[in-house]
Amino acid sequence: MSSDAPSSETESYETLERPRAVRAAESGLAKLPLAGPLDRLGTLRALDTAVSPLQNAVQKLPLGGLRDVLHGRWLGHPLHPALVQLPIGAWMSAGVLDMLPGTRRASRVLIGTGILASIPAALSGSVDWAELHKPQLRTGLVHGAANTVALGLYAASLAARARGREYRGRVLGFAGLTVAGAGAMVGGHLAYRQAVGPNKAEPVQHLVGKGWHPVGKADSFPVGQASNATLGEVALLVYREPSGETRVLADRCSHQSGPLSQGTVADGCVTCPWHGSTFRLVDGWNVGGPATAPQPCFESRVREGFLEVRLPDAAPDED
Ligand code: FES
Repeated sequence: MSSDAPSSETESYETLERPRAVRAAESGLAKLPLAGPLDRLGTLRALDTAVSPLQNAVQKLPLGGLRDVLHGRWLGHPLHPALVQLPIGAWMSAGVLDMLPGTRRASRVLIGTGILASIPAALSGSVDWAELHKPQLRTGLVHGAANTVALGLYAASLAARARGREYRGRVLGFAGLTVAGAGAMVGGHLAYRQAVGPNKAEPVQHLVGKGWHPVGKADSFPVGQASNATLGEVALLVYREPSGETRVLADRCSHQSGPLSQGTVADGCVTCPWHGSTFRLVDGWNVGGPATAPQPCFESRVREGFLEVRLPDAAPDED
């Protein structure tokens, strides 16, 4: 009998298999054919020598208001995933046409379109990338490097075709498509495994029950100073205005979960201490990126000396 065998007939599958899975994961034996190696990208400290100067350079680009446009604040979610559809679609279509006769001109048009479309896609991805955590920055660097190589291969493909070297152009095109596909896979890992892009404040509405909830004695929250409280599993930013109003937002920033209660309050807004997103205290609206989603905003009142809060959109799943 192996050491993992059940010790009695009453031992369940759950109690048998879960410890085995946990042990395997802890000993590094759990193999995820793609996600495992991709996870390791985020741990490669050697990449930091390139990450830091590039991050500084992107943050210093004089983009002004265009930066928030590229983040997608006007769209309500990141712009980059939408922009990448055009180069990927154009290059994929060119790959299909390259396998058919009589499509040389159309393939060239598609490859050129993909090259041009990749520029705004890369710019939007870069400004998003520059406002991430270290492991995400490392993975994102690999994603960007792969796409840069793909772009170079497509440029070389177009140049080869222009010189009449059609076969070479097609080979370079397929090489570009392969590298772009690998880059897209890393990008998918970045988005879905490392959670770059989603609204981090979205779960709040599912974690807060309907109605009013006490969060502490009203006079325990200082006037004119950001402080925090908790409501079940949800952290809150509490700000008592000198005028008497109390503003309450979800504390964890919708961008990357930064603690807004440690941020700076000025002009009716709180600025996140991590990447500088700015939210209006009165309604949680994200007036400045990189956050593309607003912050959940609670109503507040004082009853019998206690501050009570209510989330207007709480628990919609139970309606
Ligand atoms: S966590 Fe990035 S701006 Fe708040």
